[in-house]
Amino acid sequence: MPAPPISFARGAPAPELIPADELADCALEVASRDGAKVFAYGPGGGYQPLREWIAERHGVPFERVVLTVGGLQGFVFYAAEQLARVPGRVLVEAPSYDRPLKVLAREGAEIVALPMDDEGLDPDALAAELAGRSDAPSFLYTIPTFQNPSGRTLSADRRARLVEIVLEHSLAVLEDDPYGLVRFEGYAPPSLLELEGGSLVTYTSSFSKTVAPGVRTGYFVLPEADAAAFEERAVSTYISPPFLPEAIVWEYVRRGRFEPNLEHVRRELRARRDAMLGGLAEHFRGASWSTPEGGYFVWLDLDETDATALAARGEEAGVAIVPGPGFFPPDSELGGSSVRLAYSYETPARIAEGVELLASLR
Ligand SMILES: Cc1ncc(COP(=O)(O)O)c(C=O)c1O
Repeated sequence: MPAPPISFARGAPAPELIPADELADCALEVASRDGAKVFAYGPGGGYQPLREWIAERHGVPFERVVLTVGGLQGFVFYAAEQLARVPGRVLVEAPSYDRPLKVLAREGAEIVALPMDDEGLDPDALAAELAGRSDAPSFLYTIPTFQNPSGRTLSADRRARLVEIVLEHSLAVLEDDPYGLVRFEGYAPPSLLELEGGSLVTYTSSFSKTVAPGVRTGYFVLPEADAAAFEERAVSTYISPPFLPEAIVWEYVRRGRFEPNLEHVRRELRARRDAMLGGLAEHFRGASWSTPEGGYFVWLDLDETDATALAARGEEAGVAIVPGPGFFPPDSELGGSSVRLAYSYETPARIAEGVELLASLR
């Protein structure tokens, strides 16, 4: 049987990084311990012990934490709520995570993509955008740490500056941070939530990258004034979330497995990141790429190469990549020679092989 294509396209953990056996054991335990409680309707904000654990980690009352069916579902709630209050434009990074861009386009928002570089979003560009128009934007959507798709992290100085600007303009911010804990090296800068205090910044993360994506458990830490309306969106969408997977996550945490598993994931992904950066250095002379200290992604800039055509050649040859244009607003012409490479799914050996193959297709 031929080997399956090498996938740099999937922003997903390799199956061997999912602690399936222990999660199965946790499932049995919570189902028998909690009984009907995890199979019944319940609070829209999610499984209470997990909610409380997250609230404690963030130093907020549990009412400000709402568990969602993955982070993306919560993004849909947040965007709808915010756009209903302040319709109009949403500020995002250029590039940004493609699925929220699609959600925003579907909601009819005007998407304004602000430039970023190796230090993350350019705060001066944000300040200029806010000064340049009289209508207030609905919100800023940012992924400050190990960004999807670029792997870049907003520097500590820029975080401070960004928060100053946000406070000056009373700008609502959604800080999306599913990768922050997946750090291989270096020091974590403070979150925007920590710096701002949580009256304008809503923080979201998820257990997709730290436990398993199939548990579909994300969470939002909301400003006090917004939490009830957000929870009501959840209730009017699915009544209550599935408690069984949330209880599985909680049981995993309760057993003390969260941190050791995270260490394991960090170690494994670091080796994959190293294989990818090593392959790029060997085979992609003349190109440039990001060097993430964590997360899943490297952003590759290839002067002169049409990334969409390269992806098509890759598909034929057995290496899958995502070309850049999908990570920019639909009317943008940016990203034509850029590529998102995910190193989360393949082994180091297959990553080395895939990068060499991709280079031969340039
Ligand atoms: C930046 C970012 N936000 C949110 C998500 C959504 O994750 P989930 O819905 O699995 O929690 C992802 C998934 O890849 C992501 O990259």
